Amino acid sequence: MNGYEKHRPYIESEGLDELVDFLENSGYREGVFDAVSGKLDIPFPPQTDDLVRLHKLVRSRKCFTALEFGVGYSSIVLADALYKNQVEWEELTSKPPVRNRFMFQLFSVDTSRDWIESTRKRFPPRLVDRVHFHYSEVEIGVYQGQLCHYYKNLPDIVPDFIYLDGPSAKDVKGSIRGLSFQCEERTVMSGDLLLMESTFLPGTFILVDGRTNNARFLERHFVRNYETRWDREGDVTTFELVEERLGKYNLLGSDFF
Ligand SMILES: C[S@@+](CC[C@H](N)C(=O)[O-])C[C@H]1O[C@@H](n2cnc3c(N)ncnc32)[C@H](O)[C@@H]1O
Repeated sequence: MNGYEKHRPYIESEGLDELVDFLENSGYREGVFDAVSGKLDIPFPPQTDDLVRLHKLVRSRKCFTALEFGVGYSSIVLADALYKNQVEWEELTSKPPVRNRFMFQLFSVDTSRDWIESTRKRFPPRLVDRVHFHYSEVEIGVYQGQLCHYYKNLPDIVPDFIYLDGPSAKDVKGSIRGLSFQCEERTVMSGDLLLMESTFLPGTFILVDGRTNNARFLERHFVRNYETRWDREGDVTTFELVEERLGKYNLLGSDFF
């Protein structure tokens, strides 16, 4: 039994069949040629549990705008969940005023132009219009004197759902007093969400895939009130910003549909 078959009952209930077939035949396994190293990247197969969890979260929370670090299968799954949220939203007879220019859009940031292209080429045509691929390098930095890394350029948006699944450590450029992320034993340590935290809206939800050391770093440095959960078995950490809403425009999809 492969991963998809194991999850078929759930996938069918979410209408993901078309996507499952697509991912199985997407050709990702062919890999992409890494122009920098001159080597063929060995592509990994879809991680079904992660993808099902992601879809379920975005659907159940009725998210409006998603930010993803690390393109791949997850981009397609996120775009599909946002598409389904939009279908439900459009069925509402009266729509409340939401201050958001990027309803049901996905912003996907990556350090690899090759993986962006590879993902874009394989995107189902019905979903491609809602994804905005965003290339950025990542460089080493510090947060309050502690080693981490930052994307040099981020999409200028305020998402209500964030999926942290990139970058790879090998893509972090630079060193500080001899320390770098090329050191194979060093874990990734994104500081980007600490920069963004002050403008998160109440209700913002973050899913960190693996990267437990990074999730703990974020937990130690976030200054607002989150409900934090570490699922050791599932190897994910989630943060939900639990604060009173700011006013009538600070609405989440789950408030009304
Ligand atoms: C952990 S992966 C991101 C995976 C993606 N979020 C997903 O769930 O499919 C980190 C990086 O690997 C690259 N990548 C994307 N898809 C890949 C694949 N199938 N095999 C190998 N590397 C991949 C991208 O540059 C990405 O930023």
